Amino acid sequence: MTPVHSLIEYLQQLARHGERHIRLDEQAKEILRERIRRGKRTVNAAPRHPTGAKATDIHSSKRQPAEAPLVKLKAEGGSAIEKLTSLRMQAETWEPALSLSSLRDTMVFATGNPEADLMLVGEAPGYEEERRGLPFVGKAGQKLDQILMAMGFSRESVYISNICKFRPALKNQTTNNRKPTPLEMQACLPFVRAEIEIVRPKCIVALGGTAAEGLLNYENQPVGRMRERWHEFEGIPLRVTYHPSYLLHNDSAVTEKRKVWEDMLSVMEFLEMPISQKQRAFFAKK
Ligand code: URA
Repeated sequence: MTPVHSLIEYLQQLARHGERHIRLDEQAKEILRERIRRGKRTVNAAPRHPTGAKATDIHSSKRQPAEAPLVKLKAEGGSAIEKLTSLRMQAETWEPALSLSSLRDTMVFATGNPEADLMLVGEAPGYEEERRGLPFVGKAGQKLDQILMAMGFSRESVYISNICKFRPALKNQTTNNRKPTPLEMQACLPFVRAEIEIVRPKCIVALGGTAAEGLLNYENQPVGRMRERWHEFEGIPLRVTYHPSYLLHNDSAVTEKRKVWEDMLSVMEFLEMPISQKQRAFFAKK
């Protein structure tokens, strides 16, 4: 156990005994300040690609991985929008993620209705999402918009988020993307938890195996084994389906589209949405 883990455990123990405040002497404060400074320096030191991208090689990082944050984030404000804004501001400089040195430093938060019945969680922003500062606005995002529209939702009526709030870095990165690692997702998990607590959706859809693994803590489970049943995350029913980008790569495969569509029909049934005969028959074998 690292000293920081021991500290976290000690603080949690105090919290369990009702302590809400602790006194830090000057030396302890200086140790914490130095930790924050070190984290910022590592993030800012990574060389930049001509596109503005940070050319950080995840495999050559010598830094110790950040400790999995067990913290419960405090979102300031009265309304859901205010609380989400407070979370967004905290995410901008989220040390446990940035100190990994394997993520780029532009934070991409969530989008949509802060009081949505349906929340969709993807894996991490890609090139286009980082450029525009919004999740799911690239090709996969367009596919997701089509799926939502077929369900009767607009993009604005649901809440769309990613488990990892920063684009995973690659060496000599231009427009290429990679999936976030379990550690990178774990570092950002307190945000997804806090977002769920604020939005309180009736159900969640995990888009793709990576997001499902990050949320449900499964290891190497294919989507085929996780879909077609309800799971639970933070007490909210959760459905797993294929990532929209999977459909882009398998655009001709109607059977795969049907699988995603069946997952979405289950979500619509759960939300007690009206479903027309036409909707039921989308991508079904004739
Ligand atoms: N893929 C994701 O999982 N999230 C995005 O925001 C974009 C692509």
